[in-house]
Amino acid sequence: MPDRHLGKVVFMDFCEGDCYECAHPMIHATIEGQRVELSPELVEKYNRPGPRYTSYPTAPTWSENFSSADYQKQLETSNTKHLPLSLYFHIPFCEERCTFCACSVVATKKHAVAEPYLNILLGEVDRVASYIDRSRLVEQIHLGGGTPTYLDCGQLESLVGAIHKNFSISKNAEISIEIDPRVTTDAQLTTLRKLGFNRTSLGLQDFDAEVQDASGRIQTENETRHAIETCRALGFSSVNVDLVYGLPRQTPEKFQSTLKKVLSLNPDRIALFNFAYVPWLHAHQRKISEGDLPGGWTKLEMFCTAIDIFQNAGYDFIGLDHFAKQGDELLKARREGTMYRNFQGYTTKAQCDMLAFGVTAIGYVDGAFVQNAKKLKDYEDAISQKGWATCHGMKLSGDDLKRQWVIREIFCHQKIDKKKFDGDFDLYFEKEIKSLEVLEQDGIVALGRDQITITPLGRFFLRNVGMVFDAYFKEGQKKFSKII
Ligand SMILES: C[S@@+](CC[C@H](N)C(=O)[O-])C[C@H]1O[C@@H](n2cnc3c(N)ncnc32)[C@H](O)[C@@H]1O
Ligand code: SF4
Repeated sequence: MPDRHLGKVVFMDFCEGDCYECAHPMIHATIEGQRVELSPELVEKYNRPGPRYTSYPTAPTWSENFSSADYQKQLETSNTKHLPLSLYFHIPFCEERCTFCACSVVATKKHAVAEPYLNILLGEVDRVASYIDRSRLVEQIHLGGGTPTYLDCGQLESLVGAIHKNFSISKNAEISIEIDPRVTTDAQLTTLRKLGFNRTSLGLQDFDAEVQDASGRIQTENETRHAIETCRALGFSSVNVDLVYGLPRQTPEKFQSTLKKVLSLNPDRIALFNFAYVPWLHAHQRKISEGDLPGGWTKLEMFCTAIDIFQNAGYDFIGLDHFAKQGDELLKARREGTMYRNFQGYTTKAQCDMLAFGVTAIGYVDGAFVQNAKKLKDYEDAISQKGWATCHGMKLSGDDLKRQWVIREIFCHQKIDKKKFDGDFDLYFEKEIKSLEVLEQDGIVALGRDQITITPLGRFFLRNVGMVFDAYFKEGQKKFSKII
């Protein structure tokens, strides 16, 4: 680059377009101390629909033929390996549906729906637990949704009571819950802390009033601040906030102001999700006017601003879209190579079997994905009548497991150490390595003899690298959101 760029770290602004190397504006960011530049051509070339790889193989490839009998077999065989456990509970209810939301939600203000759901969920817990060797320790518990604090204090106590009745919980277990600051009371937070919860994750999305209005989620700054301060005062050891970039009416200037306010809240972790605009899957997103959505280039600009602002404030950029404060366990896990990625995002608890309870809940047991019925009535009827609600799943083949490992390395550690691969990597992935040559020419990966490294520029294109190793991915399928 010309001298005027040297030694000058330009974050997130456009160069004047008069360099000898570029005739177009660029977006700049610094990733792990290295300055990277993104050109419109590069963004155009790689910005296509693709999975986020919270699982491999991705959910659309699983089979409806995977039955509850298959699940029971997996539960039984998992005991021989005696891996620790991670438990996930899906509470689908929200009082209202936010227009932008792509989660699995049942919107109703009739809180009476919670009690029968909880009773059925507890039945599922009893049944699944009866297959699990009691000496296996639970290292992680997560309540997600929907809005788990749709359950009142007594209902939360019943759920945790059932967990303790059925499982052995490790003293160091990470016990977390998703909190909507608009509806979660101090009494609920106090109860959760008393019940042993040590982590909270708060939905924030964006502070800007216009963005909130266009996204169908009005949330005051006071509500968010109060929830975080209460979590701190109660002694939760970690508070995460969720932000989304790419929401309707977001602009780089307004988003920058949200980011600065977020820093003033001093969260331990930040998840910065790329807005998944998938109206063909979630029809309610059609209420969002497409004209209000920022384009790919603007989204990238906002993402780069966030990377810059968070890193300058002392957060490390993790994987695809997470940031963690110095001293956070996630950073330690990343350093030690034990960080893991699952449906709940990035986690320190690798090598667990995940048992998932509730409607649409997805588990992973002894090398198989297992999903419950996706509609509330189907789930409740299936558990009440048959005891099981398995509707989808997949037992991974040897090839799936190899590719799963590679994709996880890409998303967690941004490098593939060929020596750690179970087999001759270059021979096994000859075709994929050939495909990566184009990405190498574009500066996204570096193909070394012993390892493949994702470059700082490649951090923006992890999904594209993952797609190279995905044996099921077909271009042109309208299943996934766009990469940028
Ligand atoms: C289950 S929700 C959060 C819990 C709680 N219901 C709340 O809203 O505060 C988990 C997170 O998913 C993210 N999310 C939901 N829909 C999304 C979408 N379409 N694109 C990207 N992220 C999304 C939001 O950041 C949200 O906080
Ligand atoms: S963002 Fe949270 S509160 Fe809003 S609909 Fe989705 S799960 Fe419910």
